[in-house]
Amino acid sequence: MMSSAIIPSAIVTGAGSGIGRAIAHRLASDGYAVVVNDLKIEAAQLVADEISTSDGKAKAVAGDVSSEPDTVGIHKAAFDAFGDTALLVNCAGIVHQSLFENLEVADFDRMFAVHVRGTFLMTRLVLPAMLAARSGVIINIASQLGQIGGIELSHYAAAKSAIIGLTKSLAREVSSRGVRVNAVAPGPINTPLVRALSEDWQARKAAELPLGRFGEPEEVAATVSFLASPAASLFVGQTLGPNSGDVML
Ligand SMILES: NC(=O)c1ccc[n+]([C@@H]2O[C@H](COP(=O)([O-])OP(=O)(O)OC[C@H]3O[C@@H](n4cnc5c(N)ncnc54)[C@H](O)[C@@H]3O)[C@@H](O)[C@H]2O)c1
Repeated sequence: MMSSAIIPSAIVTGAGSGIGRAIAHRLASDGYAVVVNDLKIEAAQLVADEISTSDGKAKAVAGDVSSEPDTVGIHKAAFDAFGDTALLVNCAGIVHQSLFENLEVADFDRMFAVHVRGTFLMTRLVLPAMLAARSGVIINIASQLGQIGGIELSHYAAAKSAIIGLTKSLAREVSSRGVRVNAVAPGPINTPLVRALSEDWQARKAAELPLGRFGEPEEVAATVSFLASPAASLFVGQTLGPNSGDVML
């Protein structure tokens, strides 16, 4: 095992379940010390324990990414555990299904708070040290629905489009200063989030996919691992799509 001083550190938000959990595991096996954030501390702790048991380095940190004080706490806990953050993966997310005409203001606001505000709040905290070091990677988990829209998911799709816009804009501002920013827009992936959608919605979506199946969280983690690596040095402001062919750009 390398000494902790030279192990790069990654924060993965929403890493207590699904895609974030798979990303945390993959980054730990890629050699990162991983801060496993989640709203649910028990879930985050379980993932951190799994990583530690397989000889990786991880720390569970509770916090709601839509809360400014919570994000300051997550960032401080990450620094105290592993030093400056080399890689931030904004993955925390929620889903909620409603026709546009029935959508409540509170549901719309919560969708934007977790996805867009959360991505903004976490990114603004890690960015200064990355710019000072002229080195860093930020990966935002969007969704293919942010590219094509989704029935009964207008607020979700709009929030994910906003993440893609934020990703491109920030990439234009900071890439010449050593910080690479990209997005990943997965298609439907077998996680609790997708299983919370109606069976009807899932069946309709599965029938549309050229690959004929939903993805697995590990297949998204592989894309994140690539984007974080030096092999992705020319990828700037891109939105990569591990999406079973749901979107072809
Ligand atoms: N599953 C899919 O089909 C799919 C497709 C495209 C994009 N995504 C996106 O991938 C990301 C992960 O989704 P998933 O499918 O793994 O879902 P999931 O429900 O399995 O995991 C999401 C995790 O985020 C945590 N979380 C929710 N709100 C949070 C907050 N405010 N602060 C901190 N943590 C919070 C939850 O507690 C949960 O552990 C989300 O951003 C989601 O929108 C998922």
